[in-house]
Amino acid sequence: MPDLPELRRYLVNIDSASTHQLFTDTLIIGAGVAGLRAAIEAAQHQNVIVVCKQTLEDSNTWNAQGGIASVLQKTDSFESHIADTLNTGCGLCDQKIVELVVRKGPELVRQLLHWGTEFDLVDGHIAATLEGGHSHPRIAHAHGDETGRAIAETLIKTVRKEPNIKIVENLYTIDLLTSENTCFGIIADKNAHRQIIWAENTILATGGAGRLYRETTNPEGATADGIAIACRAGAILQDLEFMQFHPTTLYIAGASRALITETLRGEGAILLDSKGCAFMKDYHPDAELAPRDIVSRAILAQMLKTGSTHVYLDVRHLDKDYLKKRFPLITELCESFDIHFQTDLIPVRPSAHYMIGGLKTDRSARTTIENLYACGEIASTGLHGANRLGSNSLLEGLVFGQIAGRAASKQKKTRPSLPEHILIKHQIPHSDRTRLDTADVTNSLRALMWRNVGITRTAQPLRETREIITFWQRYVMDKVFDSPDGWQCQNMLTAALLMAQSAELRNESRGVHFRQDYPETDDKQFKKHIEITRP
Ligand code: FUM
Repeated sequence: MPDLPELRRYLVNIDSASTHQLFTDTLIIGAGVAGLRAAIEAAQHQNVIVVCKQTLEDSNTWNAQGGIASVLQKTDSFESHIADTLNTGCGLCDQKIVELVVRKGPELVRQLLHWGTEFDLVDGHIAATLEGGHSHPRIAHAHGDETGRAIAETLIKTVRKEPNIKIVENLYTIDLLTSENTCFGIIADKNAHRQIIWAENTILATGGAGRLYRETTNPEGATADGIAIACRAGAILQDLEFMQFHPTTLYIAGASRALITETLRGEGAILLDSKGCAFMKDYHPDAELAPRDIVSRAILAQMLKTGSTHVYLDVRHLDKDYLKKRFPLITELCESFDIHFQTDLIPVRPSAHYMIGGLKTDRSARTTIENLYACGEIASTGLHGANRLGSNSLLEGLVFGQIAGRAASKQKKTRPSLPEHILIKHQIPHSDRTRLDTADVTNSLRALMWRNVGITRTAQPLRETREIITFWQRYVMDKVFDSPDGWQCQNMLTAALLMAQSAELRNESRGVHFRQDYPETDDKQFKKHIEITRP
């Protein structure tokens, strides 16, 4: 385990006796597929509060395009999906977890259909397409490329109908409240009002970390808060070096980046370099459908070779009417930049997409802190290993959301009811150190992470990254902020440092982690997880 710099336990002063308080059985932080599915499950047995830092519509789930991987076709099999997931995971998957998730998938996907998700159908059956690394078409999609939104809308509708669930939007979770390695809820902020939510059980489902990078497919909220919050509380985190980069993000200088789904390549789109050459066959026999890490690195290498800032997706040979129907979101996006499928190439390049590592959890979604569960992108369940198979994440969120909700709501009370017996008081000493502009630090951090902890890594820049972040931390981590911008900057610095440290420790290349100075996989020393916890 790496040495961590001294980390303050809480970001703000706390006096639980004089803070507004709410109580619940199960508290869920985050409203993507995992958080919402957990809420529906827990509400069968208990009262639930779901909190999220923006609205229910602001999640990575909402933005997911490709779909959800599951064995739904007669020609497919569990064994094949399990084998593809294990192959892609490069030796670090937990086989039992892979089997659990894959086998549970079809039932939960059909449940979504039953609840109202309008999956695209062929002859009355759920249609499926291909993505890289899958040996069968098994990606179910809805409204073409609006799968995430369709699933999220179904879950939101279901949650809103459930009398046992209370939803609190625009609430920023500052910290988990813990005592003796047991979680009791959170301290949070809503519109500048501090509040404590006491909970018998807490489920962290805060999502991803893509916003730590200048180039990302992720929405604004994906700032790795969960990683930092859990680290301060003393949970074990693992595999934070495994940030997955998506090969094809629309690249228009000055415009915000947007995902161009891999299923477009599944339907036949070809990658061309700036000279018009198709290059993927030079890098992998599966060409456009090779695993994502290989496609991302191939694009980067080709950009370097041709001195270009991007490559292109070519769909001109495909049926334009079919494409419009199958990819309405991408059609609209491209047309808003005057890019037309029949005549134009789509400029793309890779960007940060999915955090594979996170809080270490067991089969029941339990973390290493009592009464704290994790599911979705924030959790490291063992499903993905060192590389995630496309569209396995919505599946994981659905399956582990259900598991976490059930486990939390069935947990026997091991202590007296809250909160009579706990009083939390925390006072942070004043610091006279200069104040940095947190917006400037955040922008600089995102550029630094993209440069040095990106698709390819080397020891020296990783070390420099750690030194630079530690320097910023001296002037940011000593302050007590009173708004989300400040706390978010503190969380981003904490999470980025953990990711850079983990990447520095893994002196080999495996899955999405590619070290130029250690290009080989070293099973002898590194067929293991890199765990991190505060002292
Ligand atoms: O390309 C995509 O549609 C992304 C899918 C995923 O990240 O699972």
